[in-house]
Amino acid sequence: MLNKKVKSIILAAGKGTRMKSNMPKVLHTIFNKPLLGYVIDAVNNVGYVDCNFVIVGHEAELVENYVKANYDNSKCILQSPQLGTGDAVNKAAPFLADFDGYVIVVCGDTPLIEADTLRNFIEFHDNNSADLTVMSAIFENPKNYGRIIRDKNKKFIAIIEEKDATPEQKAVKEINAGIYCLTWNKISEAFKNLKNNNAQGEYYLTDIVKWAVEQNLNVQSYILDNNEEIFGINSKLHLAEATKILNKKSLIRLMENGVQITDPDSTFISPETTIEADTLILPNVYITGKNSIGSYCKIGPFAHIRDGAVIGNHVRIGNFVEIKKSVIKDNTNVSHLSYVGDSELGSHVNIGAGTITANYNPISKVKSKTIIKDGANTGSNSVLVAPVTINEMASVGAGSVITKDVDAYSLAVTRAPYKQITDWVKRKIQQLSGGNK
Ligand code: UD1
Ligand code: CA
Repeated sequence: MLNKKVKSIILAAGKGTRMKSNMPKVLHTIFNKPLLGYVIDAVNNVGYVDCNFVIVGHEAELVENYVKANYDNSKCILQSPQLGTGDAVNKAAPFLADFDGYVIVVCGDTPLIEADTLRNFIEFHDNNSADLTVMSAIFENPKNYGRIIRDKNKKFIAIIEEKDATPEQKAVKEINAGIYCLTWNKISEAFKNLKNNNAQGEYYLTDIVKWAVEQNLNVQSYILDNNEEIFGINSKLHLAEATKILNKKSLIRLMENGVQITDPDSTFISPETTIEADTLILPNVYITGKNSIGSYCKIGPFAHIRDGAVIGNHVRIGNFVEIKKSVIKDNTNVSHLSYVGDSELGSHVNIGAGTITANYNPISKVKSKTIIKDGANTGSNSVLVAPVTINEMASVGAGSVITKDVDAYSLAVTRAPYKQITDWVKRKIQQLSGGNK
């Protein structure tokens, strides 16, 4: 246990000019989840942090809506105009007036940061009874980062931004990762003394280091092991690179747990998807959002699982099948060319090729549920217009459009009766050749 409580400040007010987008940077997504969501989740998963202050500015309302809808323990604070990272943190000061604990500061655009790293970082701060700890990293190419400046005795004394650095300081390879732990009642005073007389005319958060050293406070640095974790997103290229890194981690985790993945290069599985051992994932599978998949399933090739799928054991999800927000019980097959959305499929259900659950009414914008109970089956090319229930062991004839519930053990067919017109083609050919003479 820690000696003190912890709150976080997450910096997310910047525009992200290089994204070339109207959308705020932190709402850009990886596997359908905003960058900010990854950061808040990492902070919440530390276990020590009870509340987050998210500093918003550019398109503040959009960011605030996302935070409100997803995180009860997070409060947005407006920073307008954006006068720098120091000014941003200071915006949370009124909410921390009597806070006798630690504040960690992280950026909203570093989605690869892990909860374990943040936990170790906070514990390091606590074990050292530090007043200020800065996370640093060693970069072969430190360009654009603030440099960690040490004195002759290697004591950490300041952070100097690239734009303010002398050539000698620019040569330093230890950089400021942009993650800080502050013993709030010791450091809060620093924000009253920040100046913006620097190359960017901003109030730098990094200047609190020099201030704390001058006050003889306990200032520490914590060197990060895995540089990837502080990878900050500034462009669409970075977004793609971060997706690859997250995906790779996710696939390795799954394979280590016994999932067979035929071709990791063409497989994308979100970090929040769990899959049990001995399931086989074939090439070109794309799985986003939060899902759980059991054992002995066969998924793909070319399957798309979007979010909210709860799939049991021995389930087959075949090629060109899309699954969204659906429960699928054991031994059920959705083998080809189907869409299953907002549905509950029992066990031993067989979904024929080309079955569509028509879950969405584009006029009312309402989504409705399809329930298919144990042992039922649908013929190829069926449309199940939700809300609708196909009861136990019922059968839907191929090509049917089902708009009413089907009773257990019944067959429902809606196609026109079979009709054969004998020699129709022969007569057509004769007519045509007659006409040509
Ligand atoms: C900052 C650090 C630098 C560090 C780097 C790590 C400062 C002065 N410099 O530089 O030492 O190496 O991060 O990535 O802190 N933001 C606000 N309000 C503002 C300004 C920024 O909320 O007024 C947010 C941004 O949205 C972003 C974060 O703060 O999420 C960092 O800002 P950014 O301008 O990217 O800082 P850097 O110049 O990269
Ligand atoms: Ca900047």
